[in-house]
Amino acid sequence: MSNALNSPIGLGPESWAPGNKPDPLIQNSSGRIGASVSRVDGPLKVRGKATFAAEFALDGMVYAALVFSTIPKGRIAMLDTSAAEAAPGVVLVMTHLNAPRMRPMPLFGTSEKAAGVDSLPIMQDDRVHWNGQAIAVVLAETREQADHAGSLIRVTYEAEPATTSFERAKANGTDTAWLFGHELHIEIGDAEAVLAAAPMSVDAIYRTPYQNHNAIEPHATTVVWHGDELVMHDASQLVVHQAWSLAHIFGLEEEQVRVTAPYVGGAFGGKGFWSHQVLAAAAAKLAGRPVRLALSREGVYRTVGGRARTEQRVAIGASADGHFDAIIHTGTAVSSRDKASPEAFTFPTQSTYAAGSFEIDLQLAYQDMVANSTMRAPGEAVGSFALESAVDEVAVALGMDPIELRIRNEPDKDPTSGMPFSSRHLVEAWRAGAERFGWVERNPTPGAVRDGEWLVGMGCAAATHLYVRQPGGAARITMTGNGNVTVDVAAHDAGMGTATAQTQVIAERLALDPQQVSFRFADSRMPGLVAALGSSQTVTVGAAVAAAQHALVGELLKLVGPDTPLAGLTTEEVGALDGGLAKLDEPTRHQSYGSILAQAGRDEISIEASAPPPLEMMSWSMHSYGAMFCEVRVNAVTGETRVSRFLGSMDCGRVLNSKTATSQFRGGIIMGLGLALTEQTHFDERNGRIMNPSMAEYHIPVHMDVPQIDVIWTDIPDPHAPMGARGIGELSITGTGAAVANAIFNATGKRIRDLPITPDKLM
Ligand code: MOS
Repeated sequence: MSNALNSPIGLGPESWAPGNKPDPLIQNSSGRIGASVSRVDGPLKVRGKATFAAEFALDGMVYAALVFSTIPKGRIAMLDTSAAEAAPGVVLVMTHLNAPRMRPMPLFGTSEKAAGVDSLPIMQDDRVHWNGQAIAVVLAETREQADHAGSLIRVTYEAEPATTSFERAKANGTDTAWLFGHELHIEIGDAEAVLAAAPMSVDAIYRTPYQNHNAIEPHATTVVWHGDELVMHDASQLVVHQAWSLAHIFGLEEEQVRVTAPYVGGAFGGKGFWSHQVLAAAAAKLAGRPVRLALSREGVYRTVGGRARTEQRVAIGASADGHFDAIIHTGTAVSSRDKASPEAFTFPTQSTYAAGSFEIDLQLAYQDMVANSTMRAPGEAVGSFALESAVDEVAVALGMDPIELRIRNEPDKDPTSGMPFSSRHLVEAWRAGAERFGWVERNPTPGAVRDGEWLVGMGCAAATHLYVRQPGGAARITMTGNGNVTVDVAAHDAGMGTATAQTQVIAERLALDPQQVSFRFADSRMPGLVAALGSSQTVTVGAAVAAAQHALVGELLKLVGPDTPLAGLTTEEVGALDGGLAKLDEPTRHQSYGSILAQAGRDEISIEASAPPPLEMMSWSMHSYGAMFCEVRVNAVTGETRVSRFLGSMDCGRVLNSKTATSQFRGGIIMGLGLALTEQTHFDERNGRIMNPSMAEYHIPVHMDVPQIDVIWTDIPDPHAPMGARGIGELSITGTGAAVANAIFNATGKRIRDLPITPDKLM
């Protein structure tokens, strides 16, 4: 379907500062934006033709196995690799004794392109920093030979005292957390005094456990050195950051490293830059052969950190009519030292509800463990559990409907920053969701609805996720004589549908048939510094493409001949229409892209541009929202919880592809059901060893745990965001944990403040 409309779509704004015009794509007059479009990579994937990181076959390639430490802290006293080196097929064994000299990972956030999850030395000395740290890499002709040889390595340690329990970590003292250059501490008024004087209050401690990443594709990387040039085919959500960081580590120029990640089987914040990628590159250098390093599922647990444990106090003081006078959200998250990101659970409290006073504080307690990192809606996933459980507790105490209580405390501007909201229609989401879910049928009395052995209840909670547009967006558009375009951005598609949604948006922006658009991504040699983080790729790429379109149209207008329809027009006067450009207020003055190029004698035109800075984030409080509804059945005999219905009613700006968005929302909700009911990483507190590093013992929701999940959205475009879209990838895991917990309270009368809500807590 080409754009057969007769009115051109103007170019996107050249700045996102206040006062600028909104993105013309917000109008969506063709209906293409938001359409249910199947993934462009679907056919390749189902045919097994999509090459994932562990599927690149290179000449002379060897296979790597890692050997992991079994103590949390200390030094390697003796390391005997002789039996391993003599084992069949072994090419080499790399340890700290023979590894190439490498700089530590540059820590994410410390410079523009730094990607590292921690800044510890990698196999440079005999030090052990966590239980499960790689202490040897074995390269062999087959994976089985490498694994076998790894089992022959003998090691003894001189252990040192380690902090491997949360209680000890807290007793050692905590630090106020920082993020984006700010202390995570806010005080507005004297919240403690207001709380003490409030007509009613709740004040409770909520706990959430460690969680591990379990993307369907375990982490893998295939690396080859061509002389001093390193090529890495990786499962990554930040290829440019990673190429730059590898160059830093190995003392190379950025141009000497290329990282690609054409297909990634789920990322969720876990497919960052960890030690295994550095070790694979180092071992390949040492061996002079290409290396494939694919982590086992256990290897992922040992190497890649996930969501940090938290202990949160939420206290809310309210008037008798339910207005919040004070909100206190404080507590402690576990962290390893020398690492990048705190589990910022206080985020939702900064902007979800109005209150007369606030106290918000996040402390970090340090444990000797693999660096915890970002995991889908870091901070907000577990912070919203605590906040939204506490709000439910207020509703129960006041005898108020929990939705009405929330609406009563709806803020008219950001309650802690004071900034206006860019677009916030959470109340509409509540109303629409309540209607669709049949909330009116909920019996507010806990434990009152019983169906045989099953106690039935309904609960709800708000979802919220920060809007982010990254500053490094850039894109290259290459247009050929038939009007087809290729757009290159070093962005990522880990299964979210990036390529599919961007293809729709580009086709709409340039008024092309989607078949004419080829979106290429995830190669560090492409333009842009765009990580697949923070649900921010879509708008980051969208603004970059808009900027590249400006540059492209400017060039095309220079090529038009004197007596042609577009002669003498400026970029402000034209828009995209039907495979070409037209005068905005006189669409019959139209010329196709192909004929502009042909008249100028050009086979193609290629142009690159950077997006303007994300000034919208400085001017408005920008978030995606949701109203989450859950119905549970709790077995009165076994304590088993079955989620029987779930609805997410989202307010996330313009949805670009209803099919991939629905999948994103369902995926986030399913992950939220795991957070609520089953997921927990068990550390042995004596030695810091993860005890359940497998999907047999770490329980994520399976088909039987997941009902049909319903998703709706307001579809109100955000006038200040590219395409009117805000982020969606992480939003729906937030609120879900509390919606389940609140439904369980309604079903049973039991308030569980300690995730996951396993049957033992309900018996
Ligand atoms: Mo997301 S945890 O920022 O990949």
